[in-house]
Amino acid sequence: MITLLSHLSYVALTTPDVEASVDFYVDQVGMTVVGRDDHGVYLRCWGDYYSYSLVIVAGEEVSLDSMAWRTTSAEALEAAVGRVEAAGAAGEWFDAYGIGRAYRFVGPWGHTMVLHWEATHHRYTDGDLASSFPDRPQRRSKIAGAPRQLDHVTICASDVDAFAQWYNDVLGFRLMARTVLEQAPISVFSVLTTNEKSHDLGVVLDGSTRPGRVNHFAFWYDTREEMLIAADLLMESGVQIEYGPTIHGIGEQSFLYYREPSTMRIELNTGGYRNYVPDWEAPTWVTSQGSFDIYRNTTMPLSLSESFPPADGPTATEEGVPEEIRAQLLKGKV
Ligand SMILES: [Fe+2]
Repeated sequence: MITLLSHLSYVALTTPDVEASVDFYVDQVGMTVVGRDDHGVYLRCWGDYYSYSLVIVAGEEVSLDSMAWRTTSAEALEAAVGRVEAAGAAGEWFDAYGIGRAYRFVGPWGHTMVLHWEATHHRYTDGDLASSFPDRPQRRSKIAGAPRQLDHVTICASDVDAFAQWYNDVLGFRLMARTVLEQAPISVFSVLTTNEKSHDLGVVLDGSTRPGRVNHFAFWYDTREEMLIAADLLMESGVQIEYGPTIHGIGEQSFLYYREPSTMRIELNTGGYRNYVPDWEAPTWVTSQGSFDIYRNTTMPLSLSESFPPADGPTATEEGVPEEIRAQLLKGKV
């Protein structure tokens, strides 16, 4: 298979209060609104290479509307769509805002994925947002702690290994690492990538009956110092940091989690390794090895198991987590 996908290009989220979220992303995160239409509000980080990386969409619940991936070429887009449809996940072509022709399908675990080759290479050439550096699409945000760009998205699936295998088989996502429970070979987390990053798509086990849920999405910083300034400013602004700053074992990024006004979880990321190995064999971690927190000395808050939209259904626990995993979460082991 040729390499089909190049990277994550945008994440679209729904919320009942669009303006509250948009104001937060502008004032606290330092993003810029680049457009609005009937679908949503389009925002960009100062370092995003295309027009936008985040779309805020009106909806009854907080949820993942879609996640978009740019292919490596026009031919790769056609090949990717052919493989998706051959795998039984037929979708539709549409005209994406600021992008052009794009293909949208719903994957086997209920997540809407957009594939596109066309893209607008963004660059402010004059005015307050123009950068003095030739390779920057926009001058650095005047908001301290503003991230450079979108980094990854982490979704929920009822079968982590099967999800990873499907997206590997159909679209060529590389499986980079997985985490299993201590007592049983049950996969609770996996990371996949379309490029040399440790991951741009994460998968957490979902014990609920709701398809297409999302756990968080993440922004990127060049340095840990910038991320720590963002952490300081969150505290100064009265925004609770849900977990961190600390370091993931898998990927070795420094990170922290917090929530925006809709309650959607945002992760801030920096550092970590690059992996260029085309035939990488994904290692398996057990939770006690520090796959989530490399220092192994903290208890993960149970709130981190909350995903979006809320879990429901007869087999779901209150937080949508299987009892076995819930017990480990309470011990801070996952
Ligand atoms: Fe993450």
